[in-house]
Amino acid sequence: MSHWIYLRRAALAARGFVVFNWTARCLEKTPEMLDVTIPPEAASMPDPGAELVSRVVGGADRAWFYWTGRESVRELRRTLGVADRALDSFESILDFGCGCGRMLLWMEELGRTRALYGTDIDAEAIAWCRDHVPYADVTVNDTDPPLRYADAAFDLVFGHSVFTHVDERRQDAWLIELRRVTAPGGFLVLSTYGEVALGDDRWRIRERFEHDGIVFIDDVFGPEYPLPNWYQLTYHAPWYVFEHWSRWFEIRAYVPGGALGVQDQVLLQRREDDAAPPRPLPARRRRPA
Ligand SMILES: C[S@@+](CC[C@H](N)C(=O)[O-])C[C@H]1O[C@@H](n2cnc3c(N)ncnc32)[C@H](O)[C@@H]1O
Repeated sequence: MSHWIYLRRAALAARGFVVFNWTARCLEKTPEMLDVTIPPEAASMPDPGAELVSRVVGGADRAWFYWTGRESVRELRRTLGVADRALDSFESILDFGCGCGRMLLWMEELGRTRALYGTDIDAEAIAWCRDHVPYADVTVNDTDPPLRYADAAFDLVFGHSVFTHVDERRQDAWLIELRRVTAPGGFLVLSTYGEVALGDDRWRIRERFEHDGIVFIDDVFGPEYPLPNWYQLTYHAPWYVFEHWSRWFEIRAYVPGGALGVQDQVLLQRREDDAAPPRPLPARRRRPA
């Protein structure tokens, strides 16, 4: 655990918070996941290094990084299955908030045959992906919309553990933007911290969670954290997701604990009659044969 994490935990403890290992908070391990080892298929995969790995999985645990990457892609397939869709039935796919490619690394086959994109605010993670995930076209995006993509550019957008870190105002702006870049009839898969993650209510937010439906805790990550200060922690009650997100999308499935056993997985679809003419994306780099 890095120095700043110790400092942050000490500061929280001093203020009377129940201190837990926040590093487990981004992709929290359920008991059956504690003993994971690096999957054999990952032996030949590039290693983003401790710093970038810890930004996405909360600790420099390579086994956890690769193991959860494989698992998250399986879960994505499973959730899409609810709508009778296979991952490779999509033509143009965006990993929104891809970080250093935890999931993209498990999509090489897909990236060779489909248009695969990734975007993130983290310029260092994107620089690493550019060098090591050549079958995906990756870019840095700004804190606020727009993305550089055309209207209706994608028929699938997924974002694992991104809306879990953004406040409501920004979320709304990003939901509208993700709707713009998704083709009518296209799908989105987003994860949230819901009832499962709330668990024993270690942040003491249950009342707000139930009443407001969305709770943004704005002082989890201190100034030492490598991402901007607005990057914090958000919980969503399922009713809020159904009520609020359905302004822009149809909710096709809600899977409690469907993302690594701790985050909920939401399958959204841009309505077919929500029309905008699809425009082709610019040519993209592909891995040389
Ligand atoms: C917990 S990490 C998860 C990374 C990746 N999705 C995964 O599952 O490994 C959250 C990621 O979301 C990115 N992020 C947060 N807000 C974003 C935004 N508005 N646009 C793009 N990326 C964002 C962060 O930079 C970080 O890489």
